[in-house]
Amino acid sequence: MASTDLDSPAVASGDTPLQKKRNAGEIAGLKSYGLLYGSSPVMMELYSQIERVAATDATALIIGESGTGKELIARTIHDQSARRDAPFVAVNCGAIPDNLIEPELFGHEKGSFTGAVQGRLGYFEHANGGTLFLDEVTEMSPVRQVKLLRALETGTFFRVGGNELIHSDVRVIAATNRDPIVAVKENGLREDLMYRLAVFPLRAPPLRERDSDREFLAQHFLSEMNAQEGTNKSFSKRAIEMLRTYSWPGNVRELKNTIYRAFILAEKTVEIAHPHLASRVKKPVTQGDAMNVWVGTPLADAQKQIILGTLKHCGGDKRRAAKALGVSLKTLYNRLGTYENEGGEGEPSASGSETAES
Ligand SMILES: Nc1ncnc2c1ncn2[C@@H]1O[C@H](COP(=O)(O)OP(=O)(O)OP(=O)(O)O)[C@@H](O)[C@H]1O
Ligand SMILES: [Mg+2]
Repeated sequence: MASTDLDSPAVASGDTPLQKKRNAGEIAGLKSYGLLYGSSPVMMELYSQIERVAATDATALIIGESGTGKELIARTIHDQSARRDAPFVAVNCGAIPDNLIEPELFGHEKGSFTGAVQGRLGYFEHANGGTLFLDEVTEMSPVRQVKLLRALETGTFFRVGGNELIHSDVRVIAATNRDPIVAVKENGLREDLMYRLAVFPLRAPPLRERDSDREFLAQHFLSEMNAQEGTNKSFSKRAIEMLRTYSWPGNVRELKNTIYRAFILAEKTVEIAHPHLASRVKKPVTQGDAMNVWVGTPLADAQKQIILGTLKHCGGDKRRAAKALGVSLKTLYNRLGTYENEGGEGEPSASGSETAES
């Protein structure tokens, strides 16, 4: 079962060796390497590691959170390697029932198990001459891991139900979103397989470690969407602030999907609602005299929360609230009027406390 991640590129780039130089580039301040975009120091380090490993046939293990671009890294290694004209086959091991792992990877002979009415080649043979990408490799049971390890060690395997030793010239790149050491200790990943896979470990950095990339990446995705749709939409100032300050736990995938949604909704100016915290933004956590405003709250929202929270704390006494906030009574009235027009939140009741949803 090949991976069917909709947001993955459909094909490897298939560049010729002469085009290799083009694989490192820069558009509007955003550096790129192969299929990857990003100029932050962690990405520059990753590019140089990819360049080094692509020149070899070493097995690589890509470790990183979901949405950090592990599959894109694997494809980039393939595109940069001498195998670029042969197939890149991506397999999501976590999505294959354990009893089907062997026939899927190594193929099977006709009649080898119930339902095997025809013989079939496995992914190892489909990827012959090219690269086999084993995603979520830590999810395989220990029995299947032994078979995989043997195939990696010897470069040979039997099809299920077959007795002919098959050789396939495959470079394996594996990926996991677990820490492999923890996976060995807690999730049944065999230590010998871990070391065999991690001949060359690569870390896909999370977006929160790529400060300088967030806005550039967002602009890049927006330009792509504009080019595709023949539009000229741009981010509002508030959207850019949001892009910079939010931590993006779903990494580049979350950033890209958020921009895509916002792009579809926008007429001309693309606004971005705080993705996960949108509901909490209206409800800061208050405890006695203190109030916690969520990280990544747009400044205008934070200001509104502080004003409304202070007014509530002062029992609805606007004069006291204005004094506490260091603004004139008139300014406070103006703000409250604005909030009322926005959605009737100008006059919070003096009773009851606002808390975040748990
Ligand atoms: N550095 C990057 N530059 C451009 N696009 C990126 C980058 N990293 C990730 N993406 C995009 O983000 C999305 C997720 O990438 P990818 O599928 O490679 O992540 P992943 O780490 O394999 O995620 P998962 O663990 O969930 O399988 C894709 O649409 C991909 O094109
Ligand atoms: Mg993936």
